[in-house]
Amino acid sequence: MTQSQLAITFFIMSSFVMWLGYMIPKARTMLVSVGFFVLASAAFNGFSNWLPQVEGIPPPKPVDCSNPKEKAAHPEECNKNVMTMSVAERADMGEAIIFGKVGGSAERGIGKGQCPLCHTFKKGDIGDRAPNLIGVTTRAAERIKDPRYLKPDTIQTESFKGSGRATNAEEYIAESHSCPSCYVVAGFGVKGTNDRESPMPVIHKPTTSLSIDEQIAVDTWIFVNDGAEPPSPEVIKAAYEKFIPESDRPKLAVAAGPTGDPCDVNAEKKIACATDTPDQIVTKMGCAACHKIPDISFAHTGAIGPLLIEGANAPGRIKSPEYLAAMKAGKAHATSPKEYIIESIMDPSAFIVQGFEPISPGGKSMMPPDFATKFTYAAVSKLADFLLTQTADKAIKAGLERHPMEKAEKLLKKAEVDLPMRSVQSNPAVEGAIAAQSTVVAQR
Ligand code: HEC
Ligand code: HEC
Repeated sequence: MTQSQLAITFFIMSSFVMWLGYMIPKARTMLVSVGFFVLASAAFNGFSNWLPQVEGIPPPKPVDCSNPKEKAAHPEECNKNVMTMSVAERADMGEAIIFGKVGGSAERGIGKGQCPLCHTFKKGDIGDRAPNLIGVTTRAAERIKDPRYLKPDTIQTESFKGSGRATNAEEYIAESHSCPSCYVVAGFGVKGTNDRESPMPVIHKPTTSLSIDEQIAVDTWIFVNDGAEPPSPEVIKAAYEKFIPESDRPKLAVAAGPTGDPCDVNAEKKIACATDTPDQIVTKMGCAACHKIPDISFAHTGAIGPLLIEGANAPGRIKSPEYLAAMKAGKAHATSPKEYIIESIMDPSAFIVQGFEPISPGGKSMMPPDFATKFTYAAVSKLADFLLTQTADKAIKAGLERHPMEKAEKLLKKAEVDLPMRSVQSNPAVEGAIAAQSTVVAQR
């Protein structure tokens, strides 16, 4: 039956049913509505007949913007930027920045923005390290009415002098990114600071370094993920310009490919490879979001995990009664400092450093649990060797202090009193033993 025949059939049927409705008053309402429904179907069928028939035409070939000829022929497609994209394209770009690729939210991958290191995004997921971001576009309205927001007692109460505070949901999100400590969600502050300091990195600065354009895409995805209408790119841009001083505004750029990394597509699909430098590995894995590392200049603000002076920490940890107990329980297995570091990265819940116990009882380490799937052995071994060179001396020189929750003593105090850390470090017997043990692991 063609569509027009179908439409005529529907029309006849609806007329008959409505006539029946007229004849049988008791069933009138029901029959008239059925008749109306059939009539509507007839109208739609007829209407779709008038539309041009597109079946059979192959889908257009995607434009190859890397080809200069095609680029010139399709200026609109190839010079697209975040301000001119459709909402769906902008949200896709945001998803790739947050999770590493379009569609990456399903598997909770980690992209350049590094948000999933700390945040969850799905209804029902529980975030130990940071609030679940689902619903943030609606709860923002309450946040900015909270007395703790209006009268902040945090380490930083304004994004920059004269910036003012957020007055709507988008501004609240932009302020959260640009000045995390301007308001600290209760219970999520850096441990030991009484919620006066946020552990969240400033998103436009290293290590995330997102441009305003990229944050426009990220926020668009956050609104879409909430099922809400995202503000226009102009409105989001204005919100960021309110909280990021001009001198700090990174160059506007459209994000390159999701990770732009060759390792990503090798046979093993590992993210960190042997050819990476320690700096590159730390960048890719987002360690600096949580840890301070003296010799890596962009890793001086992480405030969730211990200061990574593993030349000083690791040898002591494996001899501690807590570690020996974890070994006895069959959870921890390291017998050398290097093995300890590798275990901390690849199997973080094997042993949890004292003071960093998770919030939920019997919970897991706050380290991401899936580094084992992201490092080649060669890469984690290289990183462990590098972390073993990080000492208390280097931390003091870089002006870094231990995390307030660390049960170990403060470094600067130690530096004033005869530096026992240094004496351990410079003890040739201890250093020799560390070196010998490291070679054993490296040879495995
Ligand atoms: C190192 C961990 C960490 C990373 C990485 C991180 N955040 Fe956060 N974020 C937090 C914590 C902890 C809080 C709660 C404390 C606070 O209010 O600052 C928070 C708060 C927020 C809030 C306010 C939430 C609310 O319920 O009011 C938003 C919005 C937010 N983050 C967005 C992001 C986005 C987007 C990214 C990635 C571009 C990101 N965060 C990266 C830890 C992180
Ligand atoms: C989301 C935050 C987070 C990220 C990202 C993270 N860590 Fe951690 N890390 C922690 C916390 C919290 C601890 C302490 C709890 C524990 O022992 O598991 C820790 C502990 C460690 C330890 C043991 C430190 C010690 O002194 O005993 C090492 C080593 C370590 N992390 C290395 C890394 C490296 C390398 C990376 C990047 C590949 C990384 N971490 C990424 C939060 C993080």
